[in-house]
Amino acid sequence: MNEARCTQAKVFGKTPCGPDAFLLELEFSAEIGQIDPGQFVMLSLADGQGPVLARPFSFYGQTAPDRLTFLIQVLGIGTQVLQDCPLEEFIQVTLPLGTGFALPDANRPLVMIAGGVGSAPFLLCAEQRVQQGAGDQTFFIFGARSENRLYDKQAFASLAMHSRFATDDGSFGFSGNVIACLENGLQEETFPENAVYFACGPEPLLKAFARLVQAKGFEAQVSLETYMGCGFGACNACPTATNPNGPLGAWPWAKTCQDGPVFSLDSIQL
Ligand SMILES: Cc1cc2nc3c(=O)[nH]c(=O)nc-3n(C[C@H](O)[C@H](O)[C@H](O)COP(=O)(O)OP(=O)(O)OC[C@H]3O[C@@H](n4cnc5c(N)ncnc54)[C@H](O)[C@@H]3O)c2cc1C
Ligand code: FES
Repeated sequence: MNEARCTQAKVFGKTPCGPDAFLLELEFSAEIGQIDPGQFVMLSLADGQGPVLARPFSFYGQTAPDRLTFLIQVLGIGTQVLQDCPLEEFIQVTLPLGTGFALPDANRPLVMIAGGVGSAPFLLCAEQRVQQGAGDQTFFIFGARSENRLYDKQAFASLAMHSRFATDDGSFGFSGNVIACLENGLQEETFPENAVYFACGPEPLLKAFARLVQAKGFEAQVSLETYMGCGFGACNACPTATNPNGPLGAWPWAKTCQDGPVFSLDSIQL
């Protein structure tokens, strides 16, 4: 894995995405090196303006060896200052951070479930699978409240894999939430039996996902969006309760920023 480093990157592009999000493209002074899907960065303004603490964001895409994109939903001050940051300005970036998804072998099926901006870590996963020739063994279910919150859905739909979309209000794709769409796919035996399941999204989604896949005995990994302070293990602000019988052992808390944000489902308590 690449060593984490703190650097600055120039705002190269900002593209609105849905009613409350945007794609931020950053240009670095050198090639970025290896990043794993599910790893993240901490972003803040380079001039010390804005909130004191940087904010965590998943790697979304890579448009050139020295350029990365991030899908950012604007919620509060930390995301607002990033949206307001002019083109050509510099942003402070710490990367790459955390432990990402352990992708299965190309011949093993993968089912990815995303809610809202929980789609962010899955574009790189999907691109890697397609590059490995595993697109026909790769399933992606993307759910949101309404069609305009299926952020950047075309980027996923255009990949040579099986994509399904679900909206709570029925404005696009399956009518219902993403877990109902997953259950529907399971009833229709859409997914091969030995598939691995990944999920990312808000906590209620992850809890419903965990109940479903644990009842079925499926192998699964989840990416958590826990609040974070430092992002690299120094502040203890990001505890996740571990499962004493799981692979992380008896210690009751894991650091989400280092041990995660991606965990095997059997290693934590959701
Ligand atoms: C590993 C990781 C990867 C992430 N990747 C992405 C990503 O790719 N794209 C993206 O848009 N967001 C992502 N997030 C979430 C993002 O970090 C938060 O939305 C952001 O920090 C909010 O900062 P803010 O200052 O704008 O909002 P704040 O002012 O801090 O909060 C605004 C509102 O959002 C709520 N909120 C803030 N952070 C979280 C959180 N982590 N979980 C639940 N509610 C929260 C607050 O309670 C408050 O109601 C990720 C989080 C983690 C931990
Ligand atoms: S965010 Fe500081 S230890 Fe995890």
